[in-house]
Amino acid sequence: MASLKEEVLSRRTFAIISHPDAGKTTLTEKLLLFGGAIRDAGTVKGKKTGKYATSDWMDIEKQRGISVTSSVMQFEYDGYRVNILDTPGHQDFSEDTYRTLMAVDSAVMIVDAAKGIEAQTLKLFKVCRMRGIPIFTFINKLDRQAKQPLELLAELEEVLGIESYPMNWPIGMGKEFFGIYDRFNNRIEQFRTEKEEDRFLPLNDEGELAVDHEIKQSDLYNQTLEEIMLLEEAGNEFSEERIANGTLSPVFFGSALTNFGVQTFLETYLQFAPAPQPRMSDQGEIDPVSEQFSGFVFKIQANMNPAHRDRIAFFRICSGKFERGMSVTLTRTGKSSKVSQSTQFLADDRSTVNEAVSGDIIGLYDTGTYQIGDTLVGEKPLLQYEKLPQFTPELFMKVSAKNVMKQKSFHKGIEQLVQEGAIQLYKTLRTEEYILGAVGQLQFEVFEHRMKGEYNSEVMMQPIGSKIARWIENEEDVNENLSNSRSMLVKDRFDRLVFLFENEFALRWFQDKNEQIKLYSPME
Ligand code: G4P
Repeated sequence: MASLKEEVLSRRTFAIISHPDAGKTTLTEKLLLFGGAIRDAGTVKGKKTGKYATSDWMDIEKQRGISVTSSVMQFEYDGYRVNILDTPGHQDFSEDTYRTLMAVDSAVMIVDAAKGIEAQTLKLFKVCRMRGIPIFTFINKLDRQAKQPLELLAELEEVLGIESYPMNWPIGMGKEFFGIYDRFNNRIEQFRTEKEEDRFLPLNDEGELAVDHEIKQSDLYNQTLEEIMLLEEAGNEFSEERIANGTLSPVFFGSALTNFGVQTFLETYLQFAPAPQPRMSDQGEIDPVSEQFSGFVFKIQANMNPAHRDRIAFFRICSGKFERGMSVTLTRTGKSSKVSQSTQFLADDRSTVNEAVSGDIIGLYDTGTYQIGDTLVGEKPLLQYEKLPQFTPELFMKVSAKNVMKQKSFHKGIEQLVQEGAIQLYKTLRTEEYILGAVGQLQFEVFEHRMKGEYNSEVMMQPIGSKIARWIENEEDVNENLSNSRSMLVKDRFDRLVFLFENEFALRWFQDKNEQIKLYSPME
């Protein structure tokens, strides 16, 4: 039997961040194939959420019912136990997507080699950066014509502001793609080979091919050697320490669809990715290998099964060991209970989990007990993990009860859903009208549906479009006269003042006119 420490050190828990269509599903699938967690490609469900109409709730529900099983996947490889957490994109993009990044120890960023850094990647990257977790980059689709690799590296630095270290380098691309020059393993990995034993060609101490091969005569090969020399001379130095603190991203090139470079990536990733890390609580830093069981809820998925109206609280274990049937205490209320219904997430099914350790994610059946950010502990003393950050919403709606006689259920519903973290709530200053804020459109639809289904309250929603929300450091300097349709002043649920700007232009204009007012966004 492995000790708790050995078990914990074998865990690697990460999320894949990317823009839709960069290849997240494809790469995940290949990783699961290596881990033996699935047998056929095409098993990872819940992809292409963009294909259903958002107005058809039943479809969404069905999709979400399916996609939740694939929102946490576990597999074993080479003595490691790997947890991949999905960060839903497309219409599913929401605060949950961001919060998932609070529960991982590292992130893998997929970049489409033809497109470079795209909007959603940038948003997710910022959250990883805020946490200072290691970010590994996989530049995908080299089997197609793409941007020049040096251009892609420059983009990483300019758009994301992160330095990079290419672990390998493409030799050509698209039709001419020969393979990757693997600096880290000192070999060339061929893209097209008939026999598996021909796949790797060794390099000598000078970094040149150590065996005879026709590629040696090609311009492609010479160009690669020149680029490698440039990287050696002018590029960043490899630094394990900087990878660990998230300031240097190791970069891998490959093609997920053709399963090229994926195994090389996986093996190197496992070598450098961190095991579960200590986490800050009100009792100081908690060591993941300490015996006391503890962790926090980072996501609540409601209504997965409309017949039972069950909810699942996604729980990241931060220390100790979970055993089914154990008694846990919810720090917020001080109440203890036995956890008899828990679930582990696998690629194609959910199954009951009996044991799990730090780094693992378990699902706890929830009848309304848990809130996002809640800490649970096994044995006392109690502790509370740091609050999850609030994310800046981008979409806003005015909301009111359809039936004015039903204000009570309307207010109760809103209060609970806001507390649960499903949506953010703001109020206009004098009139106290309700405004909802969300990161993604789906949050509004879930809200509307749950208000009706769970609180018997039909709501009227009036879109006010996308806004840029900014909080204010020096509230005392702000007065209501500054509020107008282009820079609307509202209050959040903690009664802090917030400006909702119509667009970037309105924000800049306001800042120019009112330099004394210090605005900030929780994400930056
Ligand atoms: P996502 O989860 O990030 O949204 O992306 P997904 O893996 O679904 O990939 C998006 C599209 O890109 C898919 O094609 C997929 O086959 C393709 N793709 C992924 N990796 C590679 C690669 O390495 N090379 C090439 N050439 N294509 C790649 P699709 O036609 O949109 O979907 P499908 O009909 O094949 O499922």
